[in-house]
Amino acid sequence: MCGIVGFSGTREAAAVLIDGLRRLEYRGYDSAGIAVADGENINVAKVKGYVKNLAELTHDGADIKGTVGVGHTRWATHGAPNDINAHPHMSSDGRFAVVHNGIIENYALLRQELTKKGYKFASDTDTEVVAHLLEMYYDGDAKRAVMKTASRLEGSYSLGVICRDGRLFAMREQSPLILGLGVGENYFASDVAALVPHTKNVIYLEDGEFAELTPDSITVYDVRGRAVDKPVSRVTWDVEAAEKGGYEHFMLKEIMEQPACFKATVEPRIKDGRIEFESFELSDEELHGINRIIITACGSAGYAGQVGRYVIEELCRIPVAVELASELRYRGPIIDGHTLLIVISQSGETADTIAAMRECKQRGARTLAIVNVVGSTIAKLADHVIYTWAGPEIAVATTKGYTTQVAVLDMLAIYLADRLGLMDKERYDKLIEALHDMPGKLQRAIDLNRNIKKLAKRLCGHNDIYFIGRNLDYAVCMEGALKLKEISYIFAEAYAAGELKHGTIALIEQGSLVVTLACYEPLFEKTMSNIEEVKARGAQVLAVSLEDNRQILKKADDFILVPRTEPILNPIAEVIPLQLFAYYVAKERGCDIDKPKNLAKSVTVE
Ligand code: G6P
Repeated sequence: MCGIVGFSGTREAAAVLIDGLRRLEYRGYDSAGIAVADGENINVAKVKGYVKNLAELTHDGADIKGTVGVGHTRWATHGAPNDINAHPHMSSDGRFAVVHNGIIENYALLRQELTKKGYKFASDTDTEVVAHLLEMYYDGDAKRAVMKTASRLEGSYSLGVICRDGRLFAMREQSPLILGLGVGENYFASDVAALVPHTKNVIYLEDGEFAELTPDSITVYDVRGRAVDKPVSRVTWDVEAAEKGGYEHFMLKEIMEQPACFKATVEPRIKDGRIEFESFELSDEELHGINRIIITACGSAGYAGQVGRYVIEELCRIPVAVELASELRYRGPIIDGHTLLIVISQSGETADTIAAMRECKQRGARTLAIVNVVGSTIAKLADHVIYTWAGPEIAVATTKGYTTQVAVLDMLAIYLADRLGLMDKERYDKLIEALHDMPGKLQRAIDLNRNIKKLAKRLCGHNDIYFIGRNLDYAVCMEGALKLKEISYIFAEAYAAGELKHGTIALIEQGSLVVTLACYEPLFEKTMSNIEEVKARGAQVLAVSLEDNRQILKKADDFILVPRTEPILNPIAEVIPLQLFAYYVAKERGCDIDKPKNLAKSVTVE
């Protein structure tokens, strides 16, 4: 979702800003713009569409002069995606330009107030009120105007503000914003992807803080304008990790990275054959006191949670509920000090997930976050954090983010079961060995399925595709179906195979494509019966099965094979061919794979 960048230096700012915006493109957007101060004026360029359109319009920034500036990619919330609503927005007197990520919830009232005072609005956005407020409060001191403006705003925002005279400010309230420290130049951005080409030294702003950036300094202030001493953190991602590295799409690159990401996430946490987490210190008493686990998340992170639910319940015998964050936040969740809330998020910035987490925390839940982005809001809010070490994930449709989340949940289940005294040594050791073997298995899941491209070519014409499975297979179906619909725009839905005959089977007709996941062996025969049922109604079956279980081959029309692993780890291998299937189907259909329409990578507004 919207991305913002800011630059203060001695070289021309526009090209730096446009490059920064390119690196934020993956977040999802529909228009782009920059504003650059040259000491006397603010020069603005903005367009509906892509950053490449902005680059064309400005001759790669060469037409926009000045050494201080802000840039923006907009994902429309208030007002259509067009040139006028694109950011930056200017104050009427031309003194301030503003870029904004988030939603100003009281913008309608503010707009009314400002209109009465004679301010003229050019756009339909909530953001424009900020520019006019700055003008209204300006009395010769830009910092004071920034503070007074911030005190009037309700909602979530990260804001970048430039003044005509070259002063540059960044403010944060419930929306990500990171400051980058360079040499003779400084930066800010919505995420580190835009900063890593310039610097790995960053400062994470907290809610309510704001900063002033000059070429030589960054000063962070609290809400009352007092300077705050902030620690400088070092980013571990390098710039290559956020580039395509020869692959046609980020999604394919990220699929291929999964064996390595699994290893990076799991291996450092196995010491002398035992799982150890860096930030999950629970006493035995606290651990035995947990009588319920709630997993909350959005999208694929929620589907990783679905896998986690089966595994944790099986190994730990603790009841687990998986709750959509957008629902949980408004449901007055029933929670007490015996509830462990597991919050899963790749970005750590998903607005609904943050809100659900705050709600549950307030009601006394102990919180454990499984997050990929270091220093993100969810990581900071949680009592305990287990990072997934997947590296930067750029494709909107998550792949390595999801599999590393499942990896952490599997490890957590093993760890908890062991500490609760529910697992004998032999089983524990076997699972640890299986975790060590997984990177190789995941590579095999990729290698085994070289035929998926052909399969996708043949099956890409279907308008709707059903995914069915039981138990862990069902959990994986949810992610497999989501991948397909996100990037290929085919209607795809997951159904618990046993539930089929209570409704969905009415939709099955001659030629319907039913992807049947049959890797969960305790219920294999049941799933085989479901295959019979849909075939009897004319369905075409694409089966996903363990490579050494050939029984299914007689029944299915097509098949995908998955290497055998420990059953609880199987979903991680099983989802890989489904990701590849979605990828190649989307490619056949000519879709914009890394940036699917209407979707955003990091959904920072409700
Ligand atoms: C968006 C992304 C999904 C992601 C979901 C949750 O919808 O497109 O890929 O699963 O947000 O994001 P999070 O960063 O919280 O995991």
